[in-house]
Amino acid sequence: MWLEALTHAVEKTRRNIDKFENLFPWTGLDGGDYKRSDHQDWTEGFWSGMLWLSYEATGDLKFRDAAVRTVHSFRHRLDTFKVLDHHDIGFLYLPSAVAWWMLEGKEEAKVLGLEAADVLVKRWRPAGGYIQAWGPAGDPKNGGRIIIDCLLNIPLLYWAYEKTGNKMYLEVALAHAEKSRRYLVRGDDSSYHTFYFDQENGEPVGGGTHQGYNDGSTWTRGQAWGIYGFILSYKYTKNPVYLEVSRRMAAYFISRLPADQVTYWDFEVPIEAGTPRDSSATAIACCGMLELVDCLPEGDPDRERFVSAVFRCMKSLTENYLTSEDPDAEGLLRHGSYHVRGGMSPDDFVIWGDYFYMEALMRLVRGVPGYWYERN
Ligand code: GLY
Repeated sequence: MWLEALTHAVEKTRRNIDKFENLFPWTGLDGGDYKRSDHQDWTEGFWSGMLWLSYEATGDLKFRDAAVRTVHSFRHRLDTFKVLDHHDIGFLYLPSAVAWWMLEGKEEAKVLGLEAADVLVKRWRPAGGYIQAWGPAGDPKNGGRIIIDCLLNIPLLYWAYEKTGNKMYLEVALAHAEKSRRYLVRGDDSSYHTFYFDQENGEPVGGGTHQGYNDGSTWTRGQAWGIYGFILSYKYTKNPVYLEVSRRMAAYFISRLPADQVTYWDFEVPIEAGTPRDSSATAIACCGMLELVDCLPEGDPDRERFVSAVFRCMKSLTENYLTSEDPDAEGLLRHGSYHVRGGMSPDDFVIWGDYFYMEALMRLVRGVPGYWYERN
């Protein structure tokens, strides 16, 4: 089943290269095809990542050439500082430039990845001891805000430390990971989407949400970012607290899955006919759990528990959400959501859902991860 699904995903990606030309798929257009983006959001790295994964799966240079073209456009984005005044620099530059470096050792790609890491560290706020997610420094609303998604951005800093030996990258990543663990994860292993600190003295103010149902609820994609992000911090640091927090967040996630194993957009949202799902949250959590399983020791009972959860989730995504019967659909997974309360693509294709679904398939079929750390 996984090989067939991967073949479908790769072939759809092949067809999409000519459709998208030099633009990037973003989110669905009212349930239809992908809106195109010209480096306008945090999402463009996922298309590059799908091209690199497809190249790895097939060896077909059509994918490689298209992937390299995207990296060149990421160079232009950095040189012109286009929509880079936010923290999502890891999402953009790891699956694009750093992937090229990882696969082919291309020096210009490594240099671009390191310059991107320098953009990210500019968001470090020493008074508070965190990476500011959104907005300019000192912004009254966002200046003191971290968000859980950033756990997938800090691997760019761990990687930059590995490449350069410059401890500044490591110290920023470690401090931010620790702040996220202490303040974004609640005592019952659920999570806040965002947390505020006093900008002057770094004192904690309180948790809240931007894309979740309410401040005290758990946005399912945020929980998935936590599962995957913390195990990536463990992978780089070998600090067991990150393995444990990822394990606990994964246990929370799978204990609240609905009957068809694919999450609604928030764990607390009332479930009624038409309540949107977020298939991308489930795909992200599957990648995180597969990474987690690789990090757990032989004989740990959670290995079997998480593998079996991944199989159930991936089976449902593949049988009930994949567009395999519709060759004209541009997206892979139906029923992703971007920002339900904000009315942004509440029930659509979302490119990050497609990327993480494909990454999970590559892990299952080929045993290779994505581009969040270098393979040995
Ligand atoms: N990182 C933004 C999101 O997950 O919607």
